[in-house]
Amino acid sequence: MKKENSWILTDRQLCDCEMILDRGFKPLDKFMVKEDYESVINDMRLSNGQLFPIPITLDVDKEFSNQISIGEKIILREKEGFKIAKMKIESIWTPDFKKEAELVYGTINQSHPAVNYMFNIGHKIYVGGKIEKISMPKHYDYRQYRLRPDEVKMKFKERNWSKVVAFQTRNPLHRAHVEMILRSMKEIGAKLFLNPVVGLTKPGDVDHYTRVRCYEHVIKKYPKDSVIFSLLPLAMRMGGPREALLHAMVRKNYGCTHIIVGRDHAGPGKDKNGNPFYGPYDAQDLLSDYKKEIGIEMVPFQFMVYTPVDKSYKALSDVDNNEKYETISGTELREILDKGNDLPEWFTYPEVANELIKSRPPLHKRGFTIFFTGLSGSGKSTIANGLLIKFLENGGRPVTLLDGDIVRTHLSSELGFSKEHRSLNIQRIGFVASEITKNGGIAICAPIAPYEQDRKINRELISRVGSFIEIYVNTSLEKCEERDSKGLYQLAREGKIKEFTGISDPYEEPKYPDIVVNSDGSRSPEELVDNILQQLTKMGYLSN
Ligand code: PPS
Repeated sequence: MKKENSWILTDRQLCDCEMILDRGFKPLDKFMVKEDYESVINDMRLSNGQLFPIPITLDVDKEFSNQISIGEKIILREKEGFKIAKMKIESIWTPDFKKEAELVYGTINQSHPAVNYMFNIGHKIYVGGKIEKISMPKHYDYRQYRLRPDEVKMKFKERNWSKVVAFQTRNPLHRAHVEMILRSMKEIGAKLFLNPVVGLTKPGDVDHYTRVRCYEHVIKKYPKDSVIFSLLPLAMRMGGPREALLHAMVRKNYGCTHIIVGRDHAGPGKDKNGNPFYGPYDAQDLLSDYKKEIGIEMVPFQFMVYTPVDKSYKALSDVDNNEKYETISGTELREILDKGNDLPEWFTYPEVANELIKSRPPLHKRGFTIFFTGLSGSGKSTIANGLLIKFLENGGRPVTLLDGDIVRTHLSSELGFSKEHRSLNIQRIGFVASEITKNGGIAICAPIAPYEQDRKINRELISRVGSFIEIYVNTSLEKCEERDSKGLYQLAREGKIKEFTGISDPYEEPKYPDIVVNSDGSRSPEELVDNILQQLTKMGYLSN
């Protein structure tokens, strides 16, 4: 008998699968087939006319798509190989990402996380078909808070809760949120379903362990027996208005009668030029058009601020013309924490502040990666070693040097210098550096890393757990060749070494390095190291 084909679900697909299987995504019971997908991206409806605002698709690579055929049943597995579901393939197609991005997210700008996923992270072929549960994805964390839609509905029923307002969030809650939610609960006479997303949220968000500890503190601020707290395994797309509809449908499936929709709900913020992807109240406008069809009431929230004179929290539109008000944005909050400054008492509860400080200590106490890049012989190793010694002399955080040659001996000994092997090598360095950074250490990496894309991947990976500082050692090829301390340039010129960076292989200059140094001989390595240390101190990574 032929072995069944298996697909290992990515993190996002696993979240989608869980939401489909537990009926959080009702009426969707499959990864969308082509007709549903086309209809959803154009009209926000499945091909049978039912409302569904966001395409939920299974993206696979070309190789896998060539192995499968329509009508076949494949096994969907999670990363460790456990079987999650069986899927009957009903359609296989190559999507038009540009069209999908424009229609669903209103932009093809790749700084939008969902658009970035399509073009740079996900696979290029979509496969659709109904899925049948084998075993729900396992969660080892916070099992007591992972309630399924039916369990939540049952709890509402047992407690005789006829009105329940859902609060969707991917952020910690602070005093203003708590106040405003309390006011809404009173106004409509509802209980609260606090339902934060812990599947995938926006890169750079506070990790969900920290958030759950914050929510545990915050729940105590509500009247006894007025809150049910549960974690939602949703993979957010940051799709703004369309995603707000999805959030409303999901909470309807959990039995809620109301949902709070705030300013720029599920929006990814601003693009690189500072322009917002969506208008602040676009999500509220779209949901008010569809709330009837979904069968849920919307509680619109405005932008909330603190007015120190009367010590209260208000919607910005309720603040009088000359009245002074205060607010702290996400970026400002991160800056306060990075500098090790105190969070004002009006902003959050001391218990929440402590959790945030624990998870984001000041920059000079946090792990970081220094990622040197430059040609062979440019001086990377000499400067990296100089820096290593200084860090060790000063003490404090643990330091590891991942030099190009060292890595190629211990971590990448089987790899050559093809584009593919170099990328693999750089990704391995990135993985090790991210683990060191995550655990509060300093990783100094000094490979050639000739490709922008590989460096970008490492920046994204490491920035999630700490800081990534790229240092471009901008020594000219002529100088490197003149030095030729290992004699490799000569061999490369003679054609005895193939694919040699700068001679017979490309080096893509970094576009936005954090620091540039030039080791063409005008300044000693000691001076260069001192200069880097000064810049790191100025940036806040080292204490004075
Ligand atoms: S890469 O592209 O980042 O994976 O390269 P890296 O691992 O840093 O290379 C480490 C050292 O390998 C030597 N070497 C070569 N470099 C470039 N191209 C080719 N074909 C090659 N073959 C051997 C070279 O000495 C690199 O060391 P550094 O420290 O950069 O001089």
